[in-house]
Amino acid sequence: MDSSLDPTLRDLLTRLQQKYDVMGQDLTSYLDGLLHADYLTYWDYIHLDTLLSLQNPKTSFPDEKVFIIYHQITELYFNLVLWEMDQLSHKPDLDEKFFVARLDRMIRYFQNLCASFDIMTDGMEREQFLNFRMSLLPASGFQSAQYRLIELKSTDMINLVDPVSRPGMTGKPLSDQLEKLYWRSGATELSSGKKTLTLRQFEEKYIQSFLEIGKDFAGKNLWQIYVRNFEGREEVIKRMREFDLLANVFWPLSHMKSAARYLHKDPEDIKATGGTNWQKYLPPRFQKIHFFPTLWSDTEKAEWGRPAIEKAMSRS
Ligand code: HEM
Repeated sequence: MDSSLDPTLRDLLTRLQQKYDVMGQDLTSYLDGLLHADYLTYWDYIHLDTLLSLQNPKTSFPDEKVFIIYHQITELYFNLVLWEMDQLSHKPDLDEKFFVARLDRMIRYFQNLCASFDIMTDGMEREQFLNFRMSLLPASGFQSAQYRLIELKSTDMINLVDPVSRPGMTGKPLSDQLEKLYWRSGATELSSGKKTLTLRQFEEKYIQSFLEIGKDFAGKNLWQIYVRNFEGREEVIKRMREFDLLANVFWPLSHMKSAARYLHKDPEDIKATGGTNWQKYLPPRFQKIHFFPTLWSDTEKAEWGRPAIEKAMSRS
């Protein structure tokens, strides 16, 4: 190699040569390609044109765009949460520092989602919403598969079984527990008590994959990782509890405020559209889902989230 070359460059070329040699490739051809390649641009890198082509309102009400984009933002945050979870589940030699740092990230994502939910609650005209949502039936955020994956990857499936069936389901096969997941029995039609079309379509598309993921994560969900590696560690427990509250109390409450703001005045109208009994289904105190039940006292579980809500309200 040319000795007049800058040593850093020479070292880099040598390492590149080694890299390409291993694969039996000719480095000079690749360097030739580099010579003609375009510089990377921001818009290509983040696929801006594609990203901005994914908002397709079904009506001409301007606020429908706010509704679509905020759902997409939420799904991206959910995807970040899942990304951190997957790293935790697959990391060999997991240590406390890495675990806590990832939990902090997941907490931050949910905090951001809670803090931004008023984009929904206050950021659309109610009249517009009530009109455009009719064109979206029977689709619902309820059909967010990533939301269910966060649940399945956080805890053992038994903790996602509806509270009434839970005692009888302990120790039963996952396929039986799956039948009794809280959202399958909870989200029913206001008028008939039967499963909504929203729920039936969601089950048809995803339920099999939920069973497979439930089985796959039975030994490596967040709870299992905690039990195996970090049981009793204070810094970890603090974060696990915070994540549990954010996912199962604060996000559901932020979300429920939207439902209350837009839907509460029209129970008959909801009935007519095959809507759910959401007033009975959505409140965290009825769902009683805790990802990490043994990190909470019986009183804390019975009053699920109340002290934390009161504390948060006294700060605001
Ligand atoms: C104006 C805004 C919103 C309203 C009025 C609303 C309303 C509702 C209602 C009534 C339900 C109960 C199921 C049903 O009847 O379909 C529900 C469930 C759900 N929605 Fe929304 N929603 C809104 C925004 C969002 C957003 C932005 C997301 C983000 C992805 C979302 C995600 C969900 C999820 C995950 C559920 C299931 C919750 C659970 O099972 O506990 N929603 N929503």
